[in-house]
Amino acid sequence: MSRPINIIGISGSLRAGSYNSALLRAASQVLPPDVQLEIGAIKGIPLYDGDLEASSGIPASVQTLKNSIIAADGILLVTPEYNNSIPGVTKNAIDWLSRPPADASKVFGNKPIAIIGASPSGFGTLLSQTAWLPTLRTLGMHAWFGGRLMVSRAHQAFDANGELIDDAVRKQLSAFMQGFAEFIQNRG
Ligand code: FNR
Repeated sequence: MSRPINIIGISGSLRAGSYNSALLRAASQVLPPDVQLEIGAIKGIPLYDGDLEASSGIPASVQTLKNSIIAADGILLVTPEYNNSIPGVTKNAIDWLSRPPADASKVFGNKPIAIIGASPSGFGTLLSQTAWLPTLRTLGMHAWFGGRLMVSRAHQAFDANGELIDDAVRKQLSAFMQGFAEFIQNRG
């Protein structure tokens, strides 16, 4: 019997109509038994500013997400791609979450993580997903590379309400979540 696991999902977009947030919501609909997906929020996280950190400490929006990550068994990062790389708002959130340095290993160290993403282009966040790798390594995360999901032509995969309408993508997403959950469970 598999133990229950809790994954924290983070969409790297602030847009209400975000394809990546829609993909994250779709992931919550295709979970294997005993797997929960909590949806974390990066909205409200200020731009990282060392002076702000020194004067006011870690913002509440960051601390809330930090606590959720610490409590979670794994992270599902759903990343957009901007200019063939990581969007600034997404990286900014991860940078805040890695503060102060003494907490970084508690938040990210050896934490299972899987990355997916959606974009209207034909490459579906391929370069952005790859661009995350140095950050994952620096923070000591335990990345799962057993599956890949790059949702290309996202404007055709989701309807106007952000519902996933592409059955092939739904199957891939389901298999991806199954594989990631097994990876987490098999770590013991
Ligand atoms: C983009 N977009 C984009 N898409 C892509 O596949 N490769 C890229 O390099 C870029 N570059 C890029 C730069 C900037 C500044 C913007 C604003 C957008 C398009 C991007 O994938 C699209 O806006 C998505 O809809 C963003 O994700 P969300 O907000 O829908 O989750």
